[in-house]
Amino acid sequence: MVRAIYPGSFDPITYGHIDIARRASTLFDELYVVVMENKKKNYTFTVEERVEMVKECLKDIPNIHVDTFSGLLVEYTAQKNIDVVIRGLRAVTDFEYELQMALANKEIRNGVETIFLMTDKNYSFLSSSLVKEVASFGGKISQWVPEFVEIMVRKKYEKHAK
Ligand code: PNS
Repeated sequence: MVRAIYPGSFDPITYGHIDIARRASTLFDELYVVVMENKKKNYTFTVEERVEMVKECLKDIPNIHVDTFSGLLVEYTAQKNIDVVIRGLRAVTDFEYELQMALANKEIRNGVETIFLMTDKNYSFLSSSLVKEVASFGGKISQWVPEFVEIMVRKKYEKHAK
């Protein structure tokens, strides 16, 4: 049984993330999509909201488990006996950060391999921040996130506007 983890902030999940999760789920017996904390980010959504959105968007894929964890990624992988980390790569600008994380994770827990899936060409520019920026100005985001997420994002910015 080969398990992999697809960790991220998912603030919020986009079609780019969904595409990576879907493709990774076909490569492994079990895929853990885990909502984690990136210390460099100030989140718009609570961890509960991010998990709710991820669960809703991936509920039709039977070998995906959605979870959350607030410690080190490698601690989670050790607990669950997972040796493969999946990350999506968009442009070359992602590379340095991803390389640093992959090498650091391997250094902390020997045996953890990171596998990068290239983004679908349609989503190579897409990010959660872009979705939020456009939504904050009232722009259209339905081409980038499922309806469930769109509603949550809209609610968030309505609240902020009040
Ligand atoms: O979607 P993101 O923000 O690029 O995901 C980054 C994330 C959450 C996967 C990364 O920050 C992470 O692994 N956080 C957990 C804490 C940890 O292990 N940090 C050290 C990474 S080398």
